[in-house]
Amino acid sequence: MKQREQWGTRAGFVLAAIGSAIGLGNIWRFPYVAYENGGGAFFVPYLFAMLTAGIPFLILEFGVGHKYRGSAPQIFAKLSRRWEWLGWWQILVSFVISIYYVAVVGWSISYLFLAFNQGWGVDTGDFFFKEFLALSDGPMDMGGIRWNIFASVAAAWGICWFVLFKGVKRGIEMAGKIFMPLLFILVLIITVRAVTLPGSLEGLNWMFKPDFSALLNIDVWVAAYGQLFYSLSIGFAIMLTYSSYLPKDSDINNNAFITAFANCGFSIISGILVFSVLGNMALNQGVGVDKVVKSGVGLAFVTIPKAINYMPSPGLFGTLFFMALIFAGLSSQISICETCVSSLMGKFDMNRKKAVTIYCLVGLFAGTIFVTNSGLYVLDIVDHFINNFGVLATGLVEIIFLSWLCKLELFQEHINHTSDFAVGSWWPFCLKFVTPLVLGYMSIANLVGDLRNGYGGYPGDALFYFGWFLVVMVAVIGYLLQATAVTVPGEITQAVELKR
Ligand code: ALA
Repeated sequence: MKQREQWGTRAGFVLAAIGSAIGLGNIWRFPYVAYENGGGAFFVPYLFAMLTAGIPFLILEFGVGHKYRGSAPQIFAKLSRRWEWLGWWQILVSFVISIYYVAVVGWSISYLFLAFNQGWGVDTGDFFFKEFLALSDGPMDMGGIRWNIFASVAAAWGICWFVLFKGVKRGIEMAGKIFMPLLFILVLIITVRAVTLPGSLEGLNWMFKPDFSALLNIDVWVAAYGQLFYSLSIGFAIMLTYSSYLPKDSDINNNAFITAFANCGFSIISGILVFSVLGNMALNQGVGVDKVVKSGVGLAFVTIPKAINYMPSPGLFGTLFFMALIFAGLSSQISICETCVSSLMGKFDMNRKKAVTIYCLVGLFAGTIFVTNSGLYVLDIVDHFINNFGVLATGLVEIIFLSWLCKLELFQEHINHTSDFAVGSWWPFCLKFVTPLVLGYMSIANLVGDLRNGYGGYPGDALFYFGWFLVVMVAVIGYLLQATAVTVPGEITQAVELKR
């Protein structure tokens, strides 16, 4: 049997895991979610969610990946041959995420060049939607391919290809060691600049002012859990894959805590950055911060560029900001792709170079839909559905499988055996009860909400094709892959952890 690739150092693994966790979500989603859900008081549910679901789930994935050493489908197949499909389902969810996530990295690359001389002009919204994306009238009106955006997205795929092609140690680990320190330095520099801007304190006041009454609202707690799953990259096979490259004696528990706290710390710094900038912009426009606050694409490509226009040295700030966005996005993108690549290698006995090349080419072409005139609409719909009915659903099934159908105590034994400090009875309790209950509640609430109200005011046919049909197909194809593809002989030896 071929030797599985390994991380060269512990720091290499931790930085790669942190790189996966820290992504676009931390910069453009966390600050807004916190602001919307109780401001400073949001840290209570957020920390609670981290301790009761985020960290326990992360420890579980690190432990299971480390013990079974394989791609996600291989790991589940080792636990029970009949569960291999769960791994494929997660891989397909990751595939879909990788083809639109990279589009945003591509936009960031384009904006990096625009940032030098604020090529986005004065009306940044008009520029982004009308000139840059040349957005059509609706998701079904695709128009043509935006070749300039296609080029940036191809560049993002190119970097991803290069890193993955070089392998775990010389590629992903090296990239983490370069991207992560750079990202932290960049974000620290721009945050220090941002907090010294006039009006920043007012912005921070808006984000951190605690509204403790929000703690009585169940949606606030759900938002905290929702933010965490996506942000920690758990439930869609990434951390299983990354930990499968760990050497035999690795401290699982410590690594999980470091990853989760680094991710949380980065989110808070991003919050300070974003709200300082918003405070400055609100002051310049003579309006309240609530009038300028935004999240997601609107924040990164419309509001921040506008705020940059008002700053004393806009070129520098803009360049550093979009570089940070690119590093954060790329390191997550690399982890999402590696998850899929390692499954291709495992299942079809392909070598890394071939698997990476095929994957990146297929990804580039499958993702062309996101660089058409309706790209942003499609991205918005796909992102919503794949998060709500892909990431959350696969996470829920995974947690039920691992904590109820497998012998969780054997995983715990393995994890504690490899770690400096042991996890006690809170760990199985959180995994068996808290996490599935929260995920189950969220899945049902999302399903009912979307069936009743649709999403984002988009027409039904677009929601059907890019939403419902897509998420169902991802699950169905995942299931079929278990039955149709050839398993590499000798790789799968049934484990004993499944309850009989
Ligand atoms: N964890 C990654 C993010 O937050 C996917 O963007």
